Amino acid sequence: MRFEGKTALVTGGNSGIGFVTAKMLIAEGARVAITGRDRAKLDQAVAELGPNALGLQADLNDEAAIDPVFKQIGEAFGALDIVFANAGISGPTPLGGTTAAAFDAILRTNLTAVFLTVQGALPLMKAGGAIVLNGSVMRELGAPGTAAYSATKAGVTGMAKVFAAELVQRGIRVNTVIPGGTRTPIWTRGAREGATLDGTEQMLAPRVPFARFATPEEVAAAVLFLASGDASGMTAAEIVVDGGTIGAPWGAPLFRQG
Ligand SMILES: NC(=O)c1ccc[n+]([C@@H]2O[C@H](COP(=O)([O-])OP(=O)(O)OC[C@H]3O[C@@H](n4cnc5c(N)ncnc54)[C@H](OP(=O)(O)O)[C@@H]3O)[C@@H](O)[C@H]2O)c1
Repeated sequence: MRFEGKTALVTGGNSGIGFVTAKMLIAEGARVAITGRDRAKLDQAVAELGPNALGLQADLNDEAAIDPVFKQIGEAFGALDIVFANAGISGPTPLGGTTAAAFDAILRTNLTAVFLTVQGALPLMKAGGAIVLNGSVMRELGAPGTAAYSATKAGVTGMAKVFAAELVQRGIRVNTVIPGGTRTPIWTRGAREGATLDGTEQMLAPRVPFARFATPEEVAAAVLFLASGDASGMTAAEIVVDGGTIGAPWGAPLFRQG
């Protein structure tokens, strides 16, 4: 029980990686506030997570929504030990077919809202606290049509290092998890609505040395490690959970001989 008596915030905790992370934190003793925009999904998640979960509906793109989130967490928990800034969106932004609004929408959620979340959490955090950001291998894959998403995830990597430097004297560690393709609803939302997770995984798996997506549990396990005292020696670091995608790309089925 690494998180007995600890409190955590998981943004985007009503779905995918965030939901599973909240579940695993609670299983190890934490009380966890989760946020999301979708009220129905939030209520369903809280019902599944049980009495140690606090559901807070908030659109983190709305700057005015940030303070109320932390006010409610302050009232419920008193303080915050762990922040997992996880909420994020994807979407196509190809050259030649993208409006400024479509591009900015991704920057707003994946970068600006992450900054505002960390900034908003700090008054509730003290020495020993841990912040984990959610990056992506997309920051370095050069995948066509993903300029905004890839730029935000490269930005998350850069921002985490700045946060780590700014917070080191306060005793707060800041690290990043870098997932590869992971089995979550992000692959069937927005422009990908109608696609199936299995079909998408099958299409992309040949590019992954493990020949499969990660599970949200595999990503969450890395988040819990970074958030725990086991990672007391780490700040401005990252854990890549991608089945070898960026470290050993030539081991992927696509490039294997025979
Ligand atoms: N799955 C992958 O393959 C993969 C790979 C690398 C990185 N990631 C990253 O992992 C993170 C979590 O994504 P996921 O894969 O778990 O997808 P997901 O199931 O779609 O979860 C995304 C979460 O973010 C929340 N969210 C989105 N916009 C928000 C906003 N404006 N305000 C508040 N909450 C917002 C969503 O809540 P609502 O639906 O209620 O708005 C949802 O809970 C993202 O940062 C993503 O970029 C995912």
